[in-house]
Order: sequence, then structure tokens, then C-alpha cells
Amino acid sequence: MREDIKEILFSEDTIISKVKEIAANLSEDYKGKELLVVGVLKGSVIFTSELLKYISIPCELDFIAVSSYGNSSQTSGVVRILKDLDNDVAGKDVIIVEDIVDTGLTLSYLLKYFEDRNANSIEIVSLLNKPVRRKTNINVKYYGFEVPDEFIVGYGIDYAEKYRNLPFIASLKEEVYNK
Ligand code: IMP
Ligand code: MG
Repeated sequence: MREDIKEILFSEDTIISKVKEIAANLSEDYKGKELLVVGVLKGSVIFTSELLKYISIPCELDFIAVSSYGNSSQTSGVVRILKDLDNDVAGKDVIIVEDIVDTGLTLSYLLKYFEDRNANSIEIVSLLNKPVRRKTNINVKYYGFEVPDEFIVGYGIDYAEKYRNLPFIASLKEEVYNK
């Protein structure tokens, strides 16, 4: 597995310090609100868990699963809900937790989805941001790190369902995803 890695971009320690920083900001910004943290499965599961540990105000947790990429490395632009939320979001202050914002198509769909269900407020928290590939005009209010236009894996993020278990964030060698 490690021989497929091009470069380690962020170590586990670096990620955890950043997660604590984001959690502190959220704990401040959402004081007295009805915070609902929604993790987007499966890529954000490690980030969501880590973030939740350091949020120091009352909050709820839910998960939603969508498909956008299937098993390929190219976005289709077609988003399907594979697993819906367990609870009602009406009146809640929702933060959608993503692993990586690339074209932004998945999130623009999710933003509309939460708006239609009458959330009180909606913001995006993403571990990674790949702004050069953006195709929609969405505001990623909280994010951990900007990444270059490369294929990223680790810390929950996959290529064809593999590499999620890497404790760091890395770029994948081109020959791995172009073969
Ligand atoms: P978007 O709709 O193009 O913004 O893509 C969002 C989703 O595509 C993310 O939540 C990831 O699951 C996946 N994705 C985008 N870029 C990468 C990458 O570099 N590595 C792995 N998955 C990615
Ligand atoms: Mg994802």
C-alpha cells in the first residue's frame, strides 16, 4: 500500500492539531445554538469522529451517505442519497462535515437538500479543500487544508474503497489511479 503513495501531505499530528482548532472555532460560533453535526459517509467518518471529540458544546450527530464518484476517480455530477438522515433537521443549525470539496457538486446538492428541509442554518466543514477544481460557487466556511489538484487518500478518504485506514493524508501516484 505504501508504495502507491506519492507524498505524505499532512501527518496525523498535524491533522489532529488542525481538527482541534476547527472544533474550538465551532464551539465558539455555535454557542447557544441547536448544533447538528452531519457527517457525509464514508469519507468523512474519521474526521467527523475526531472533530466531535473536541466540540465542547451540546450537539447532535447524524450521518448521510451519497454517491458521487462510484468507483472511479472522476465525478459524474449525479448525486444520489444512499442513506438518509435518521432525524429531522428543521430548526437545527447544521454543519455538513465533508472529507474533501473538489468540484463542489456534491455539496451544492446537499446544501439544497438541507434548505428544503428547513434547517435554521447550514455551513460546510471540510477537512480538505481543492479549490482549483471548483465548478460551483459554494462557501466552504471551515476547512483544514488546501490541497493541490492530485488524487488524495488517507484519514478516511479512499481510492476505490482502499487507503481509508492510512492515519495520514497523502497523494497517490498517478500510475495507481490512471491504470
Ligand atoms: P465533488 O462533488 O467533486 O466536490 O466531490 C466530492 C467527493 O468526491 C468527496 O467527498 C470525495 O468523496 C470525492 N473526492 C474528491 N476528490 C477526491 C480525491 O482527491 N480523493 C478521493 N476522493 C475525492
Ligand atoms: Mg465524500
